[in-house]
Amino acid sequence: MSRIDSLIAAMTLTEKLGQLTMATADSAITGAVMTLDLESGIASGEIGNVINLFGAERVHAMQRRALENTRLRIPLLFGFDVIHGHRTIFPIPLGEAALFDPRLWEASAREAAREAAADGIHLTFAPMLDVTRDPRWGRIAEGPGEDAFVAQMMARAKVNGFQGTGLADTASLAACAKHYCAYGAVTAGRDYAPTEISVRSLSEVYLPPFQAAVAAGVATIMPAFTDIAGVPMSAHRALLTDYLRGQLGFKGVLISDYNAIAELINHGVAADLAEAAALSLKAGIDMDMMANAYRAGLPVALDRGLVTMADIDAAVGRVLTLKEQLGLFDNPYGRGGPESATSLAARRQQAREIASGSIVLLKNDKDALPLADGRLALIGPLADAPGEMRGCWSAAGIAADCVSVLAGLRFALPHQSIRYAEGVDIDSADESRIAAAAALCDDADTIVLCLGEAANMSGEACSRAHPGLPGKQNALVDAVLARAKGKKVIAILFSGRPLVVPQLAARADALVAAWAPGSEAGNALADILTGHAAPSGRTPVSWPRAVGQIPIYFGERPSGRPANPEDHYTSKYLDEDNAPLFPFGHGLSYGDIAYSSLAVTPALAREGDSFAVSVMLTNRGPRAITETVFLFVRDKVASVTRPLLELKDFQRKALQPGESGRLRFALPASALKFLDANMRPVFEPGEIEILVGPSADRARLLVQTVYLA
Ligand code: NOJ
Repeated sequence: MSRIDSLIAAMTLTEKLGQLTMATADSAITGAVMTLDLESGIASGEIGNVINLFGAERVHAMQRRALENTRLRIPLLFGFDVIHGHRTIFPIPLGEAALFDPRLWEASAREAAREAAADGIHLTFAPMLDVTRDPRWGRIAEGPGEDAFVAQMMARAKVNGFQGTGLADTASLAACAKHYCAYGAVTAGRDYAPTEISVRSLSEVYLPPFQAAVAAGVATIMPAFTDIAGVPMSAHRALLTDYLRGQLGFKGVLISDYNAIAELINHGVAADLAEAAALSLKAGIDMDMMANAYRAGLPVALDRGLVTMADIDAAVGRVLTLKEQLGLFDNPYGRGGPESATSLAARRQQAREIASGSIVLLKNDKDALPLADGRLALIGPLADAPGEMRGCWSAAGIAADCVSVLAGLRFALPHQSIRYAEGVDIDSADESRIAAAAALCDDADTIVLCLGEAANMSGEACSRAHPGLPGKQNALVDAVLARAKGKKVIAILFSGRPLVVPQLAARADALVAAWAPGSEAGNALADILTGHAAPSGRTPVSWPRAVGQIPIYFGERPSGRPANPEDHYTSKYLDEDNAPLFPFGHGLSYGDIAYSSLAVTPALAREGDSFAVSVMLTNRGPRAITETVFLFVRDKVASVTRPLLELKDFQRKALQPGESGRLRFALPASALKFLDANMRPVFEPGEIEILVGPSADRARLLVQTVYLA
């Protein structure tokens, strides 16, 4: 008998349910706390898994309690939300997505895993793979943005990064792909709200990132809090067991979200905890995070015949297998121990480079950036706010370790005059300090405004119906612009989402999306603002001009009446443009890049063929740059309508001043397959447009038509 089988054979029901239970310690709690005392629950074997505890000493002490007190000496599993760094904080995932660099996506996850593993952690609740087209939803900050292809690339990179060479490596973490599935489609962007999506968008948009995570070997998956068309994900047998385990062959552990099993009662599909627990277990969820539903509900469900001991044993087997794969039985204290000072310094440097790569230069008129010599006025509530730089889900990151913009600029420009005023709070009604802040403009040559959201205004439970500048920041902007009298004004936005700021975008000379850049924020921004590094980030989400445009995304399907300003009866607004303020992929650099001679061969391809796509890039500017190039397709006539643009690949290319170079993509013709009206994959002959360029703005794409046979 295997170790796991003999353990299961020896376990009481209480011990089994302990292995299916995850309870919280005291850090970073995101919901109600269940009543069982953690310490005594661990000692009695009633809690087998812990969330929200870190630090090798504390983790090892708790582990010792389990190993020394319980009958079967089964090690505890420690999970934590290591979302974008652990102690060293990298940019929020939406910011990291702006890098469009799978190599760096993987590298930051690797470092986060090393750092968290050194703190005793075994499992991270990441990557978050929720595609979303709705910036009202605060959790847009935690994910890859609006596009399913980007999400798939990120899924693979992050799973590889967290899990490294394998779970047995004590410097790796088990990853958790979440939130399965379509959580990003919550109604009106309101967190935890129901979702209504078609089977087509489920298949084409929301499932593919999870397919990629499973293909990369992700160890665990977390179902979303929400329902899809009436079936809560915590009870969705068709998507959890039949699809994930049956069709995709996922062998890992399904972990509920926080209290989600008990919430089946609120959803209205379970009358009590026993029914809720039975629904989740039968659907395929192995571990109950913080609902106390398996411990309290499954014994009753067993009595009522709603579940069998075999169902419970199967789940216990999967949890114990994960513990075994992580090496916990043989080396329960393997994770946790000091790291060398060199690895810490190298990690900070990497965080700085990744943060500078995540910064998106949205607008740069009059060459406002990079900064010219001269006196600076640094104004705004995010200018000297080190803690806010961490963004949502900052794990073990502490404010004192973060570099503010003020500190970064003072360090980078020691001889330049930099005067600073906060002006307003991030989100309050106080306008009393605006005039004094605006007065700094008089003695400055350039004004840098640091505006946006607090870290806790995005992430879970942070939906915003008015996702613009909060508080009195617009009043500060007005006062500064009135006083600036033609001096250059640069606005830097810190946010967990694209903000709706059309007026600011029109009036500032330069606009920078910094997202939440993490521990090295100020240094990374100083690198970009001074021109020490060239901006290369591209927005992974469309920026709306108005809330009324939401949901807004480049992959829309065509209308029968495409927008035409000359024709009233077409698909448009009476009071706003259809186009976003900034399209997906938009991001300027300090160079002047030209695209030319798009070439695609062969002109006619069969399903097994591959298109060779290439484009010439020339850097006509005086600075070295890194350009991100997107490859889209459009299937113009098919048996079902196809999106106006579908992203199929992206690549980055570094170019020295004056340098030209050809960038090549290999596009398998089979990537043009799609689901027909019966949801069966088909490869249809016909005309395909291949479009290559710097963003999803069609006017900026080079196009070549090819044919499928
Ligand atoms: C709730 C969140 O939805 C999930 O993403 C997170 O991992 C858990 N809380 C644990 O903190």
